[in-house]
Amino acid sequence: MKLLEDRIRNEGIALSDQILKVDGFINHQVDPFLMKEIGDEIGRHFDEKNITKVVTIESSGISPALMAAMYLNVPMIILKKQASKVLNEDVCQTNVTSFTKGTSYELTLSKKYVTKEDNVLIVDDFMANGEAAFGAVRLLEMVDAKIQGVAILIEKSFQPGRERMDKLGIEVFSLARIAKMEKGNITFGKADE
Ligand code: G4P
Repeated sequence: MKLLEDRIRNEGIALSDQILKVDGFINHQVDPFLMKEIGDEIGRHFDEKNITKVVTIESSGISPALMAAMYLNVPMIILKKQASKVLNEDVCQTNVTSFTKGTSYELTLSKKYVTKEDNVLIVDDFMANGEAAFGAVRLLEMVDAKIQGVAILIEKSFQPGRERMDKLGIEVFSLARIAKMEKGNITFGKADE
């Protein structure tokens, strides 16, 4: 998606050959107009798939997921990273380890909100090692929902997440694919269409 690539090119900062900082429009300050365009692009791509729920992982996936859900006219579900006292109903959980952040959490879904009747689209901001997306897939499999695809804003193609997801036969739709990064320099690969 040219719009997103341009923003990354102009405002993204390659902190190292691994980490891209996009705090000014995705991760900290959020550009709602960009998110609307992103949501529409994702929604158009999955329009024919009869999506009934959009699922994301807190927190940075929420903005694009909400816009995609709005386009598709379906609810959005946020997978929680922390057990909540309010979430005392029937839940399923899976452990996710983030290599980038060096943390682990219990990803949690209330069974009330996604069932075997659902056709689900997963939306998240980054795909690195794929651990968060795989956690979401495991939870959706626990409730027997059908997974129609994973939409990602920024795929770091030099990390294994995309390839692992491809092997599982789940469609990944990445709006921007980064082939390579060096401090201060970002090289894009061909985005998905
Ligand atoms: P994975 O899910 O693909 O395996 O990624 P990994 O565990 O390595 O990283 C998890 C967290 O790190 C995610 O945020 C992800 O968005 C973030 N992340 C990964 N690579 C980058 C990067 O190059 N730049 C930035 N800014 N973030 C990156 P999270 O823990 O889910 O937190 P949140 O931001 O959604 O709250």
